Amino acid sequence: MIGRRGLCGKFMEEELLRLQKEASNDLAALKDPKELEIFRVRYLGRKSEFTGLMRKLGQVAPEDRPRLGKLANDIKEDLDNQFNIRKQELEEAALTGKGSKVSLDLSLPGRAYPFGKLHPVTQIMEEICTIFEGMGFGVAEGPDVETDFYNFEALNIPKHHPARDMHDTFYINESLLLRTHTSPMQARIMENREPPLRMIAPGKVYRCDSDITHTPMFHQVEGFLVDRKVSFADLRGILGVFIARMFDDRTAMRARPSFFPFTEPSAEIDIACVICRGKGCRVCKQTGWLEILGAGMIDPEVFRQVGYDPEEFSGFAFGLGVERIAMLKYGINDIRLYYENDLRFLSQF
Ligand code: FA5
Repeated sequence: MIGRRGLCGKFMEEELLRLQKEASNDLAALKDPKELEIFRVRYLGRKSEFTGLMRKLGQVAPEDRPRLGKLANDIKEDLDNQFNIRKQELEEAALTGKGSKVSLDLSLPGRAYPFGKLHPVTQIMEEICTIFEGMGFGVAEGPDVETDFYNFEALNIPKHHPARDMHDTFYINESLLLRTHTSPMQARIMENREPPLRMIAPGKVYRCDSDITHTPMFHQVEGFLVDRKVSFADLRGILGVFIARMFDDRTAMRARPSFFPFTEPSAEIDIACVICRGKGCRVCKQTGWLEILGAGMIDPEVFRQVGYDPEEFSGFAFGLGVERIAMLKYGINDIRLYYENDLRFLSQF
């Protein structure tokens, strides 16, 4: 209401108090935090009725201005406070479910995340290492990318030797390759240490080979012992203890004569197939036996390469296939399952 002396002070006061009451009621009636912004724009925003009234303060009689200015500021401060309190109430209610249809039980346990596990081959690898460490063997690891010298030459397999054909080698260039077995670790360790030695060397090896008992990447554990007067009987004894601890002391084992250029005499060690219990199946190719390792007495030529006197020292070495042991231990009939990354398979171990 505008009179001769400008906007009527009484009218301005009534309007301010009416707006305060209306805003308080509307705020109390809000149910959802999403409605808060609509309220703020309507009552406290730059284009709100309240802001419009504040702008008109200049039009009221000068003697009323200080009182109405203070009233307007007090009302603004009061509405700001009420707004913040209501905002907190509504947000808390939304979290705890009070006043909403969905109720949250904050005492429920959180969602459990599945734990990862060690790959079954890693588990078996660790078990093998623990058994040999228990018999006094030290552990050493070497490179997957190996030189032709350590993979072949130092092991009495010179260039053009027919034994190279058995290895299905992945060559990187003429002198570098992916190691085809862990036996290079024999030469690497022996050339840096003096006997007596009792070592194992676990690791990945690579061959261009794939079927139900062969994969292009697999794991071996090399083992060797060098001392005075070491015999084939010591080799059998150590392997017998290993097989009894890895499987059980009733697991049959047999040694078949074989050939490796770096051992003489050489043997392949089989254990009774645990899939068919020796009756004959697809995995053991109907023989009832599965080869798990190659072994033998270290060839004097290998000793000469590393500077040991073969007249003074003798030793045995073996290289076992970790996946084969894992297949037997867990009754797996296809080695490739280990590397298909199917969690339904891997989570069983
Ligand atoms: C060797 O690799 C010799 N270095 C072992 C050795 C060491 C003999 C020390 C004497 C002294 P062989 O090629 O047989 O031997 O392999 C050893 C074992 O590795 C086998 O008994 C088998 O268990 C495993 N193996 C061989 N090829 C594969 C393959 N492609 N996939 C999975 N396991 C394999």
